[in-house]
Amino acid sequence: MLTGKNILLGISGGIAAYKTPHLVRLLKKSGADVQVLATESALQFVSELTLATVSGRPVLTDIFTADGNGHDNARTMHITLGEWADAFVIAPTTANTLARLAAGLCDDMLSLCFLTLRPGKPVLIAPAMDGHMYDSPSVQRNLSVLAAQGCRIMEPESGSLASGQCGLGRMPEPESIIEKLMQLLEPPAESPLKGRTMIVTAGPTREKLDDVRFLSNYSSGKMGFAIAADAARRGANVHLVTGPVNLQTPPGVERIDVESAAEMLEAARPFFDNCDLFIGAAAVADYRPETPVEGKIKKNDAEMEIRLVRNPDILATFATSRKLGQLAVGFALETAGGIDYARKKLVEKQLDLVAFNVYDGRTSGFEVDTNALTLLGRDGNITELPLLSKEKAAGKLIDAIEPLLQRR
Ligand code: PMT
Repeated sequence: MLTGKNILLGISGGIAAYKTPHLVRLLKKSGADVQVLATESALQFVSELTLATVSGRPVLTDIFTADGNGHDNARTMHITLGEWADAFVIAPTTANTLARLAAGLCDDMLSLCFLTLRPGKPVLIAPAMDGHMYDSPSVQRNLSVLAAQGCRIMEPESGSLASGQCGLGRMPEPESIIEKLMQLLEPPAESPLKGRTMIVTAGPTREKLDDVRFLSNYSSGKMGFAIAADAARRGANVHLVTGPVNLQTPPGVERIDVESAAEMLEAARPFFDNCDLFIGAAAVADYRPETPVEGKIKKNDAEMEIRLVRNPDILATFATSRKLGQLAVGFALETAGGIDYARKKLVEKQLDLVAFNVYDGRTSGFEVDTNALTLLGRDGNITELPLLSKEKAAGKLIDAIEPLLQRR
């Protein structure tokens, strides 16, 4: 139930807006007080009168309009609403509204109140748009920005779309939105991660060939950052040691930027003694050029040879020197069928759990926003997860680690 909860409902201009009077009615039926913030385009799809009638409050759109209904005047109303709200639901969220929220624009009531909402209050975003738009790099980038800020993103549902096509893009049904909102507002069960200290490695490493070139890989850091964000939300003290990536630091996470594998090890090592858990999500280069050249290597010959030497294994260094009670979790990126290699890494690196990460070059592995993981425990437990967003996959991984921590 949502008894006594104050909910801001942002509605942007997509066909799915026709479902929002029903959403408002369900919110009210669950005991919530609802303030609708509709964009001008939303009101092309659903009538202001209907929304005002079902919510029992005037619909707010323009930042200069006073509501004359108990709120302050227009000058401060957005601040009052930011304090008043227990949660902000934005459904449907169009590509345009996503971009505006991600950029921090604030020229209507919806986007303005997004900025005045008090820190820690949940924001639930339900995107709805054509499937191709949803998959576009710009929309995915904006979703990642908002997810990194702590917004909860509901994946759109599949089905027939306004375009007449069938695919991903439909706004989840109001019942599912309310269920998700209730989960967000429930006081979270205390996680065994609360108060624990952990190290997460993320991203690629760069191994210098000379002063202007390096060996590296395609890791974006998304998986490691999603793990760090999820663990921090559960109350862990997270040291995130990352190679060069283009991502925002998740709230509450201590980030240390490094370049090479050797630097990653030296940055993580000071936390080894006092951490409860190490998760290696980084794609660490196994080899580095033996002697990086000062300046720029000249192309004198038709061929050249570069001698490579092994890098230290950061995860194995931790796992093999750890104290009783410390957990070591790794990833193993392999092409399909590589589960035996993953199992080998579990044993050789002396890990408690390894996430066998299927690399298919399209939906799972480096750079993309989704991942297919199979979790292999030292105790022989195997959990095959479906293809999930990296945020969800991170949540499932941490769910699997929690009972291991409790046993320690
Ligand atoms: O960053 P993204 O674009 O989101 O992509 C995510 C990812 C694919 C990089 C990630 O999910 C992943 O699978 N990371 C591990 C990549 C890998 O296969 O690593 P590996 O097999 O070389 O190493 C196995 C484990 O040992 C990993 O936990 C790795 O972090 C660790 N390792 C490896 C070598 C080394 N020198 N030091 C290490 O700590």
